[in-house]
Amino acid sequence: MGAFKQDLIEGIARLEINIDGEPVNKISREVKEELEAILPSLQADERVQAVVLISGKTDNFIAGADIDEFAALKTREKALALVRSGQELINQVAGLGKPVVAAIHGACLGGGLETALACSYRVATDHPKTILGLPEVQLGILPAAGGCQRLPRLVGARIALDIILAGKTLPAKAAYKRGIVDELVHPAILEDVAFKAARSLLDGRKRKRRKGGMAALLLDESTLGRRLVFSKARKKVLAKTGGHYPAPLAALEAVEHGLKYGLSAGLDSEAAHFAELAVGDVSKRLVQIFFASTALKKDSGIDGVAPSPRPVQNVTVVGAGFMGSAIAGVAVARAMADVRLKDNELEDVARGLQTVRSGLKKRLRRRRITKYDYRRLESLLSGGVDWAGFGRSELVIEAVYEDLAVKREVFSQVESHVGERCLLASNTSTIPIADIAEATQCPERVLGMHFFSPVEKMPLLEVIVTDKTAQWATVTAVAFGRKMGKTVIVVRDRPGFWVNRILAPYMNEAGRMLEEGVPVETLDRSMTKFGFPVGPITLLDEVGLDVAVKASTVLHEAYGDRFEPRDGLNRMTREGRLGRKSGRGFYKYEGGKKAGVDATAYDIISPKPSGKNSEEDIHRRLVFAMLNEAARALDEGIVRCPRDGDIGAIFGIGFPPFLGGPLRYLDHLGTAEVIATLNDLADKFGDRFSPAPILERLAKLREPIYPRS
Ligand code: 3HC
Repeated sequence: MGAFKQDLIEGIARLEINIDGEPVNKISREVKEELEAILPSLQADERVQAVVLISGKTDNFIAGADIDEFAALKTREKALALVRSGQELINQVAGLGKPVVAAIHGACLGGGLETALACSYRVATDHPKTILGLPEVQLGILPAAGGCQRLPRLVGARIALDIILAGKTLPAKAAYKRGIVDELVHPAILEDVAFKAARSLLDGRKRKRRKGGMAALLLDESTLGRRLVFSKARKKVLAKTGGHYPAPLAALEAVEHGLKYGLSAGLDSEAAHFAELAVGDVSKRLVQIFFASTALKKDSGIDGVAPSPRPVQNVTVVGAGFMGSAIAGVAVARAMADVRLKDNELEDVARGLQTVRSGLKKRLRRRRITKYDYRRLESLLSGGVDWAGFGRSELVIEAVYEDLAVKREVFSQVESHVGERCLLASNTSTIPIADIAEATQCPERVLGMHFFSPVEKMPLLEVIVTDKTAQWATVTAVAFGRKMGKTVIVVRDRPGFWVNRILAPYMNEAGRMLEEGVPVETLDRSMTKFGFPVGPITLLDEVGLDVAVKASTVLHEAYGDRFEPRDGLNRMTREGRLGRKSGRGFYKYEGGKKAGVDATAYDIISPKPSGKNSEEDIHRRLVFAMLNEAARALDEGIVRCPRDGDIGAIFGIGFPPFLGGPLRYLDHLGTAEVIATLNDLADKFGDRFSPAPILERLAKLREPIYPRS
């Protein structure tokens, strides 16, 4: 069965793409071959004066080149052949000699947008599902089917680079504003408008260029202007990627080369870079992350046959503080749930509600939502100090003070006010869920929903299940978390769960190195150079030193010496140096902005210099502490599989994506090498570095952590 269907309507060919049995249209080898055969016949057929390219999928135009296909590439030669065939096909579209109108509804990404860019005109629907962009660099490659050439020619180098180098996808409206799309329409009239556009192109009526695109073009067309744009972009890329991601620089070169030497030379540059990047380690790992997060979107959260999740429309958040109101905000804005905020004092409730409303107003100001959306979402929100509305709740999320006795009290009270089908979740980051569940009559409906701060930005949610949590409860929490826009991993109820468990030894090691005299900036700079988004000391300040101390105390009690907390942090906390929230931690904060290291922190920590530590020493000690703990926690079944562990570390901590996550990185290094490094560290610094038993086992069997495929 072919992917394309053709019709001829009053001299205009309607070419519909719809790959049978696939959720999205993607440009695979077969699709290319089929289209290659169709295009010459459209060109030769005199009855065909113009073409409208449209998708037969409900909510997808074309999602790009087939990622499976390029992920399987082993040699540069094969990669080059693949990319060349794609370029030729798209050149065929551009050189058809008849107007081609792209009628876009749904995702139009990568090779999909490159196809649309080769068309004469683009009509897109103003619908939330319609997104346009070139996300290739997120997969470690570059737009190589002409995207680095045709986009800058259409909208100017500045706008094009902004999209290409960050791998951005834009809502249809933003794409229209930037001149990528020529017309924006309601989905109901997409096809009509596309046909009308084809006719007016035939009549020779010139198409208008969008204002934004025009201004950018004018600026970028001067040689000086263009040089400035490129040098700025290069600086930005280098600062952002730290040299770990080769794709954005390659894309920059392909754009620059094409603008200097012409389209054909630009395509050669795209192809050469693609061939190199597609078979490289970074791309392979980024593609693995794409497939892992895609797989997680469909994972029920339990192995085997899962019950259906229960519908959740009414949510109550208990605790209207910083986390509670943020959770309520996302539950309203993303999941569109009816949310009630409950706290003990009216002022706290009012402040919490105000925080949620401010968040919605910000989205309105940034035009992410319309006035109508704002009013509708705001009307979903309510709050109070009593138990009103609890009977209707299908989910209660507790976000009160981090204290077991307080939480137990809350859970036992909540349980007496909710219906028997209501799911009860705690947002604790440290307290064992089973200990909280003991205070309830039905521990099977209790679990943890551990959100990360800031809730609206952080993509991860840990759903923590105890031995007693029922399957319906797990799948319901996972499904609702996903509705809130989160990537959800299900983890076992052991202290620290997954993310904090593997983060703690890394942070502790940073604390030790501080005590040994390594300066704050050196530690932070070393780890951002390694690939973390922020250094450990900045992270401590952001998380809050009091929170870190609490977490490390719990972990120390549970796991012993390996997690021995640093007394320096305790002292800082006692001095009220809690980090950003108190305006002082290891750094100073002025007007909410980080303003350099606060040297008085050293007086509190009283470092005892113990020789020179090189950057490599810092990397080894901090990273291997995390890798070792990740292996141990995986062995204890804290995560269901290595995939979840890596996604949790990347999305929860910012573990460098180009390394694929701690468990992929362990596999890359090889257990034998990891064990040797850990033994060396153990000899120098103590038993906390003794290799996790799973590493010794795997080394003996010569097996990796990820099963060999
Ligand atoms: N290639 C292969 N498979 C793809 C794909 C692609 N380009 N895009 C989506 N899929 C698959 C997913 O893996 C998933 O497969 P599964 O059902 O077997 O697990 C299925 O399509 C549905 O995808 P999602 O679950 O992600 O569906 P959503 O509706 O949530 O999202 C989407 C749809 C926005 C299109 C999202 O899938 C996406 O972002 N896809 C990737 C887009 C992309 O990166 N395109 C660039 C490709 S590289 C390229 O074009 C190179 C060129 O320049 C030469």
